[in-house]
Amino acid sequence: MRILTFTGKGGVGKTSVSAATAVRLSQLGYRTLVLSTDPAHSLSDSFNLPLGAEPTRIRENLHAIEVNPYVDLKQNWQSVQKYYTKIFMAQGVSGVVADEMTILPGMEELFSLLRIKRYKASGAYDALVLDTAPTGETLRLLSLPDTLSWGMKAVKNVNKYIVRPLSKPLSKMSDKIANFIPPADAIDSVDQVFDELEDIREILTNNAKSTVRLVMNAEKMSIKETMRALTYLNLYGFKVDLVLVNRLLDTNENSGYLENWKAIQQKYLGEIEEGFSPLPVKKLRMYEQEIVGLKALDQFAADIYTDTDPSDMMYDEPPIKFERHGDVYEVKLKLMFANPVDIDVWVTGDELFVQIGNQRKIITLPLSLTGLEPGDAVFKDKWLHIPFDLDREEQSRLQKGNRDSREAREQNVYQ
Ligand SMILES: Nc1ncnc2c1ncn2[C@@H]1O[C@H](COP(=O)(O)OP(=O)(O)O)[C@@H](O)[C@H]1O
Ligand SMILES: [Mg+2]
Repeated sequence: MRILTFTGKGGVGKTSVSAATAVRLSQLGYRTLVLSTDPAHSLSDSFNLPLGAEPTRIRENLHAIEVNPYVDLKQNWQSVQKYYTKIFMAQGVSGVVADEMTILPGMEELFSLLRIKRYKASGAYDALVLDTAPTGETLRLLSLPDTLSWGMKAVKNVNKYIVRPLSKPLSKMSDKIANFIPPADAIDSVDQVFDELEDIREILTNNAKSTVRLVMNAEKMSIKETMRALTYLNLYGFKVDLVLVNRLLDTNENSGYLENWKAIQQKYLGEIEEGFSPLPVKKLRMYEQEIVGLKALDQFAADIYTDTDPSDMMYDEPPIKFERHGDVYEVKLKLMFANPVDIDVWVTGDELFVQIGNQRKIITLPLSLTGLEPGDAVFKDKWLHIPFDLDREEQSRLQKGNRDSREAREQNVYQ
C-alpha cells in the first residue's frame, strides 16, 4: 500500500491537496482511501459530502474518512486511562483534570494512526492519503520511540514511583495502596499500543512505500515552520519527496491591492526553491474561489500533477542527512552544484546558514546541535559535510577559533 502523507501549517491547503491527490489516484485505478487525522477536519467540506468516522464511498475507487480521535483514543486507551485517573484523583486532582492528564499532547492523533495498520492489513486499498494535523508534530511524536516508550512504560511503573510502601510485603498493604497496582488489562493495553505504534513508525518510515509531502504558502512563518518540519522528518527517517507552494498570485494578472503581496510571494518563492533544493518544488496558483467538490478537486489535481502519477516517487533521496561518528556529529546536505566555490557555513541560534556564492541555504538544526559551532565543511560527491564536535573541550577551542575572520575560515573549505 502506497502511503502519501500531507503536512503543513493550518490553512495552507493540506486538505485540498490531499483530497485532490486522492481523486487523481482513484481515477488512475488505485483503490484509494483518504484519511484525515486533523481534529480540525475539513475533508467533508472539501468533497462537499458528509463523512463519518468509518470509510465513506465518494466515487469508484475512492473512500474518505474523518477519524474521530477521541473514539479511537477511548478504544485503545480506556483501561489505561481509568487506572491513571484513579491515581491522579487519589492525589487530590479533580476528576476532569485527571482525565485530561492521562492524554499526552498530540496523543489523540497518534491513536488515529493506528488505523493505518488495520487498512494495510485489510488489503482493501492500494493507496492511503493522510491529511494530518499541522506540521508533522504527530510524526515527530511517533518517531521518538524513547519518549513514547518512556510515557508508556511510566504507566506500567507508576506504582513504583508514587507508592513507596509497595516494597512492604503484600499482606501488609492497605486496600488503598493495593488499588494502585495496574490492572492486567491496562498493562496489556500499554504493551499493545506501544508495539502497534512501533509498527506504524516502521510502515511510515519505509522509504520505498511511504513519503511525506510538505504543503506551504510563500510566507515567512510558513517557510520557517516547513524548514523545521523538513529537518525533523529527515532526522527521524521519513522521506519527503515533494514541496508544494500553494496560493500563489498569478504574476501575469493584475492583483489590484494585492500587487505588493505578489512581490513578497516571488521573493519568498526564490528562498523556498533555494532552501528546499534538490527537492522538487511545485507551485500552485491561487484560485478565484475555494476548492470544493469533485470537479474543482479534479482541476486542482491536474495543476498539481499534470499528467504524472501522484504515487510516483518525486524525489528519491533525503536532502539532509544526520550522522554520528563517535563524538562528531555530521550534517550532510545534498547540493545541486557541480563544484561550488566560495562556501561559507555558520550558525545563528538554531539555524545553519550555508552561503554558496550569492545563494544562501538555511537549515534548522536539531535541538541537540544548537549552541555548537560547525567545524570545517567539506564538499564531496555533491554532498556538503558539516561536522559538529560534541566534545566540550574541542568546542571551546573551536569557538575561540571562530572569532577569527571569515576569510580564515573560508580557506579551510575544500572545493
Ligand atoms: N490554491 C487555492 N486557491 C484558492 N483557495 C484555496 C487554495 N488552496 C486551498 N484553498 C482554500 O483554502 C481553504 C483552506 O484550505 P485547506 O485545504 O482546508 O487547508 P488546510 O487543510 O491546510 O487547513 C479552503 O477553503 C480551500 O478551499
Ligand atoms: Mg485541513
